[in-house]
Amino acid sequence: MSSNRLFITTPIYYVNDKPHIGHAYTTIAGDVIARAHRMFGGEAYYLTGTDEHGSKVAESAAAAGVAPQAFCDVQSALFRAAWDQLLIKYDDFIRTTDDRHKRGVVRFLQRLHAAKSPDGHPVIYPGTYSGLYCVGCEKFITEKELVNGKCPHHLKEPVKVTEKNYFFRLRSYSARVGALIEQGTILVNPPERKAEVLGLIKHGLDDFSLSREKVKWGIPLPFDSSQNTYVWVEALQNYITAPGYADDRERFDHWWTHGHVLHLMAKDILKFHAVFWPAMLLAAGEKTPHELFVHGFFTVNGEKMSKSLGNAIDPTAMVVTYGADAARYLLLVQFPFGVDGDIQAERFPERYNADLANDLGNLTSRVVKFCERIGGTVPEPGKLEAVDRALLVAGKKAVDGMREALEQRNLLAMIGAPMGLVREANRYFDASAPWQLQKEGKEERLRTTLYVSLEAIRVAAALLSPVLPTKSLDIRRAVGVAADRLEPTGGELEHLRALQPGAPVGIGDPVFPRIDKKGKAVDIQSPPSDADGQTETEGLIDIDDFGKVQLVVAEVIEAERVEGADRLLRLKVKVGSEERPLVAGIAEHYEPEALIGRRVIIVKNLKPATIRGVESRGMLLAAKKGKKLTLVTTDGEIPSGASVG
Ligand code: MSP
Repeated sequence: MSSNRLFITTPIYYVNDKPHIGHAYTTIAGDVIARAHRMFGGEAYYLTGTDEHGSKVAESAAAAGVAPQAFCDVQSALFRAAWDQLLIKYDDFIRTTDDRHKRGVVRFLQRLHAAKSPDGHPVIYPGTYSGLYCVGCEKFITEKELVNGKCPHHLKEPVKVTEKNYFFRLRSYSARVGALIEQGTILVNPPERKAEVLGLIKHGLDDFSLSREKVKWGIPLPFDSSQNTYVWVEALQNYITAPGYADDRERFDHWWTHGHVLHLMAKDILKFHAVFWPAMLLAAGEKTPHELFVHGFFTVNGEKMSKSLGNAIDPTAMVVTYGADAARYLLLVQFPFGVDGDIQAERFPERYNADLANDLGNLTSRVVKFCERIGGTVPEPGKLEAVDRALLVAGKKAVDGMREALEQRNLLAMIGAPMGLVREANRYFDASAPWQLQKEGKEERLRTTLYVSLEAIRVAAALLSPVLPTKSLDIRRAVGVAADRLEPTGGELEHLRALQPGAPVGIGDPVFPRIDKKGKAVDIQSPPSDADGQTETEGLIDIDDFGKVQLVVAEVIEAERVEGADRLLRLKVKVGSEERPLVAGIAEHYEPEALIGRRVIIVKNLKPATIRGVESRGMLLAAKKGKKLTLVTTDGEIPSGASVG
């Protein structure tokens, strides 16, 4: 097995549902792992698809008044369309109604039918399945599902039905599967899921029925056409029918036999994947998968996502609101990979603004715009100082951190590594204060600071490319990565691909425009006019929202006009002992000199913005009516730095 050759799968999704964020989460995770694996030089084959047989699908088709195949064609296309919108780069999309799948299933069942278990019994044997059957549902129903002894959907008592079925001799394989899991030949992660499976096996699992007599929409058994293959048994086989089990043994061996097989799923379908599937493979003489990663199961605002509640979040609506890159990011950063959680969609805008608009987008704008103003190219760095080297080393560490996180399938850490670098670059840029260096004429330091900042952004953006495929390209182009180097590579190559001084840099619109609570763009980074960046308030807020705003007294110590912007003043204010730059749209109302020494009120904890290319950290309060404007001041005893509430 070559672990450099990764075969990644998602569950194949039932076509009687529409794609929702639960499906999207697994599919995005698989895409990110595949892209990251390739970035680090590995080979990857990423498979997803749709599960199209069984009574539920047949019923949905009948309810829609169409033939099952036509129904499946439409529904399966919905999944592919959603994945296209979410920038999922799958290598293969399998449908269980594909001929290659049907041929593969027949072949696999023939193998099983001919096989003997290690204790000398036929692996498949006929038997009778007896259970409770709801005629309304046309399916077997368990005691547990009954409400007051009746089917909850049809309010009828089920009938006891005995059906001839074929069984798979699981009992002859479950101990062997348990041992493979125990010793890590089949890795089941996270560890609590491994414990869960081992517990199930220890508890004892019965042979399972692998066919159905009554379900007509399915693949007939090759050895008894009066029966169809049970939908679950058939669905699992997609993982081998896609790479060529039916008729391309070479391709099949390349990926299945000699690749590292990673199945992704949520815990709802763990037993099928961790026990039934390896057991069937052992019986058919094929390799078992190497790794199952079982991520968490999500609720939405505390409730299970379901058709009847109508609360499923549509991932394509997220794409409309946030863009595909950000939608991918927002879903993945909700919880550590593997942990259950409750998704609260109203928190998406806050997270978007904090991480993408401010930390990443605004840093890129600030640095690139600075470079644009002093020549529009990657500056030639001078002598590196300790702070510069520290940031470059942080870049190298982020690459290592990302590689390690990928190996552990720790998606949150795969994002955390580059985002940590972004935050460090923000601190470096603020602390180096290039605007100050420029003012003081420290030209070499200025060039070095800008170069090192651009370089940190380049590395972070390359590492973010699996999650943010298109924005990563935009950012890397903006900081001067040459067109022939845009394909990101990780590891050792990173420093060899450092930015070339003299390469053109440039940024147009913000990479991630800021949005309001409803997801509407507000974009304070490049306001349409030279106004002071104030945004309209909408509706009422609660006290907690107000509490987030830190108002303080600030003393104006410098003021001058901003060249080319009639309404803007560039100020420097003192907040206690701290000095900070601030841009305000008050030039038509105040002469700069008249402001020196005034104590004004500012919003202290506003994220920095760049207005007309000038850095601003805070916002002045002013009262305004028509063309009149007066600053809110506190001339008197209250010193600068005092809080206002
Ligand atoms: N068709 C079967 C799978 C056969 S695989 C051989 C099936 N389909 S499903 O449409 O119900 O998809 C289940 C999978 O979708 C989960 O295992 C998970 O990957 C994803 N999710 C669906 N809902 C989810 C949540 N609420 N939370 C997280 N993931 C979820 O089962």
